[in-house]
Amino acid sequence: MSIEQQKDIIKRLDEKFEAIGQQTNVHLEGLVWANPITYWDYILPDALLSLQIQRTTQPDEMVFIMYHQINELLFKMILWEINQVCESTTVNAAFFTEKLKRISRYFDMLASSFSIMGDGMEREQYMKFRNTLTPASGFQSAQYRLIEFSSTELINLIDYRFRADIDRNTPYEHAFNHLYWQAAGKDYKTGKKNTLLTLFEKKYKKHFIEMMEKYNTTNLWTRFKQLPDKVKSDAELIKAMRHYDYTVNVTWVMAHYNAAGKYLGNAEATGGSDWRKYMHPKYQRRIFFPELWSADELEHWGGD
Ligand code: HEM
Repeated sequence: MSIEQQKDIIKRLDEKFEAIGQQTNVHLEGLVWANPITYWDYILPDALLSLQIQRTTQPDEMVFIMYHQINELLFKMILWEINQVCESTTVNAAFFTEKLKRISRYFDMLASSFSIMGDGMEREQYMKFRNTLTPASGFQSAQYRLIEFSSTELINLIDYRFRADIDRNTPYEHAFNHLYWQAAGKDYKTGKKNTLLTLFEKKYKKHFIEMMEKYNTTNLWTRFKQLPDKVKSDAELIKAMRHYDYTVNVTWVMAHYNAAGKYLGNAEATGGSDWRKYMHPKYQRRIFFPELWSADELEHWGGD
């Protein structure tokens, strides 16, 4: 490096540290004594690999734990990208498209890898270790719910039966109590909620209501609608939006549903839902971008 280049770096460091009332010399002196960075200090594999704790003697329980954790890591990557779109003040076509493609690729990976769960465990072992997991369920993944809140407008997550009575002026608490996923644990006649739902709400309801408010005007669908008309009608972008919607709400859901069918057969779910009905996209009808589908496509959502 030339003297000129070195001087330029010092100048830029001086500007940086002056702006925060710090001295460049002190920081440079600190570098003399700093440890060199290593892979294990930065990626933290020791911490990451210490988080897989079995509850039973069954080796395939490890597949179950680790694949769920991989899902949570990918959920985090998805939310990381979605949040950049939600938090940006101006919606730029190139930025939106690039982020949407990333988000979509991550979910493609989740959908195409689901066979790790579907084919990767012995049913006999699963039937043994699952009893120790009751009443927990993947249903209680908070990040999964945040992906939903941040991908679409709240009305698209409301249980179909109650949509006509809910609009933008409905209090968040009321909307929360009519989200489609309440059906996994709530008896609508008595209002009674099962343990799965009660524990989930105790832990996350306050946070969810805050997030429902945050994403109400900043979710992916609203951001898409804010794009200029020319961009919104771009065939490639529409194709990418439909692909994401379909992957999350049909492909992944069906892979999940088929795995549940294979392991559970006629058994009850650990979370206790009427799962064959609850989990099927035909009944759930969760669609992030309904305006991008034809009436016929909507009518046959999740069907043949
Ligand atoms: C053998 C593997 C699996 C089985 C048998 C299974 C079964 C179920 C069942 C029956 C439900 C309905 C709620 C209940 O009553 O428990 C459910 C919900 C859920 N599971 Fe799984 N699951 C499996 C793997 C996974 C994996 C790997 C993930 C990834 C995080 C996951 C995430 C979810 C989510 C997010 C829900 C809520 C879906 C919704 O509300 O539409 N599951 N699961």
